[in-house]
Amino acid sequence: EWTMDKFVDQEIERIRALVGDKGQVIGAVSGGVDSTVAAKLMTRAIGDRFHAVLVDNGLLRLNEAEQVKETLTKHLGINLTVIDASEQFLSKLSGIHDDPEKKRKIIGGTFIDVFLSKAKEIEKAAANTANAGPIEWLLQGTLYPDVIESISFKGPSQTIKTHHNVGGLPSKMSLKLIEPLRELFKDEVRLLGAELGIPPDLVWRHPFPGPGLGIRIVGEVTPEKIRIVRQADSIFISEIRSAGLYNQISQAYAGLYSVKAVGVAGDKRVHEWVIVLRAVTTTDFMTADGYEFEWGFLKGVMRRICNEVSGVSRCVYDPTSKPPGTIEQE
Ligand code: XMP
Repeated sequence: EWTMDKFVDQEIERIRALVGDKGQVIGAVSGGVDSTVAAKLMTRAIGDRFHAVLVDNGLLRLNEAEQVKETLTKHLGINLTVIDASEQFLSKLSGIHDDPEKKRKIIGGTFIDVFLSKAKEIEKAAANTANAGPIEWLLQGTLYPDVIESISFKGPSQTIKTHHNVGGLPSKMSLKLIEPLRELFKDEVRLLGAELGIPPDLVWRHPFPGPGLGIRIVGEVTPEKIRIVRQADSIFISEIRSAGLYNQISQAYAGLYSVKAVGVAGDKRVHEWVIVLRAVTTTDFMTADGYEFEWGFLKGVMRRICNEVSGVSRCVYDPTSKPPGTIEQE
């Protein structure tokens, strides 16, 4: 009979047998459920010989880097390094305004550079420890649906998923891949997360894309727009939570269109940014439906965002289904 605790024991044994008793394993974490579960499993198996790396690309949500650090290190005991590479990412994104694919490539490429140079540092530092040995393995939180998708996506549609977790990094690093979740579906990963003591908030967290706010800000990414989107998103999500809607919605966020619209503030006309609110329900993220909020809820969120976030004159709600839209904006 298959049970979660047996799965954990078996995976830990399998990981130990694979990596041996010397050498290091590295893996990027995002604070999402997949990478956190994979990292926790790896930590149970080999302790601090597993090195988790969080790259702060400057495109994370409000206080996200700090919160992920707190949960992963204090609560889960994961050996984590946080790299603040915000400036590097933002300076490369500056001036890119009408090419979403280019944004993704810049963000993905910079991520690889930052991650690789950190890997080299970690390897050097580990050379003088009791567990001396090179990094031979790269941990990835690939799930079964990712495996299937990357096999079936061939031809022109491949470009739909240039962001994919599968591929890219390992070949550049000549590392062997270790993917403890590759036979699991999302709901099984959540169960596994609960079994490993990962807090429910994290286990049930909505997905957040690797390029982060970079694909929720339509047009050029600037520090001001990031500040605005962070505040607006935090208000929207906290209203969703207080209304008890978080777990009925698959993904929700505030984004920003790079246009300014006129509004009134007090007795003055202003010319400020437009916030777009988006919330969807979906089972597989390949198709999705706009979430039907009550009108009063949306008006409450709009009022708070326009009042509390400086630089915003309007909020719009985007109910577009997928297709024809996508869940993100770019
Ligand atoms: P779209 O916008 O394509 O999103 O309907 C479907 C799901 O995939 C996520 N997504 C990404 N995840 N890197 C990621 O790691 C990306 O470049 C990326 N683009 C979209 C999106 O958040 C949604 O859950």
